[in-house]
Amino acid sequence: MTKRVAIFASGGGSNMRALVADMTAAADHPAQPAVVLSNNADAGCIAWAKGQGIATVVVDHRPYGGDRAAFEAAMMQGLAPHAPDIICLAGFMRKLTAGFTDAWAGRMINIHPSLLPKYKGLHTHARALEAGDAHHGCTVHEVTAALDDGPILGQAQIDVAPGDTAATLAARVLVLEHRLYPAVLRRFAAGDRTPINLQG
Ligand code: GAR
Repeated sequence: MTKRVAIFASGGGSNMRALVADMTAAADHPAQPAVVLSNNADAGCIAWAKGQGIATVVVDHRPYGGDRAAFEAAMMQGLAPHAPDIICLAGFMRKLTAGFTDAWAGRMINIHPSLLPKYKGLHTHARALEAGDAHHGCTVHEVTAALDDGPILGQAQIDVAPGDTAATLAARVLVLEHRLYPAVLRRFAAGDRTPINLQG
């Protein structure tokens, strides 16, 4: 049966768009977009999803202050009517508690703009440059309680060129993100966790 996918995003949602485009392009895709959830009502991802006729849920994290569990309970409540089987984090910039990640263990994946285990967290492109790395890229992994951790499902790699800046690296990695994430989701939704490796 086709897996129902909830996509979580906080910003423009270019990865969300790549996932939706792939899921909706082929009749034989093992997954379908069920809902887009954001913590930001003004995020481009929400406007785009609405324009596509995809269900949206907004849960603003700010009223919850530091109470992440209450924020997550509200997200779960918002998700429930859409009955997702899989969550794809696609630029969702809120940390999740173990309560949430445990509830979705084996059913939630994330894309991160570095070759994990390098550069968990923020400013990944600048950190790769500062380290003088010859290669950089992105990773899709299963989400566990530890930030940007969990079994790796795929990586895409580029060469760092002389003259690269954090901005040029980010732009080139993003192009690869849009290839890698749909390819991984397609396998993952079919129950295949064999890692994918792409070169830019
Ligand atoms: C992407 O580069 C994604 O890898 C990154 O945020 C960007 C979202 O862009 N995610 C993280 O840094 C999560 N740790 P998008 O909204 O255009 O997809």
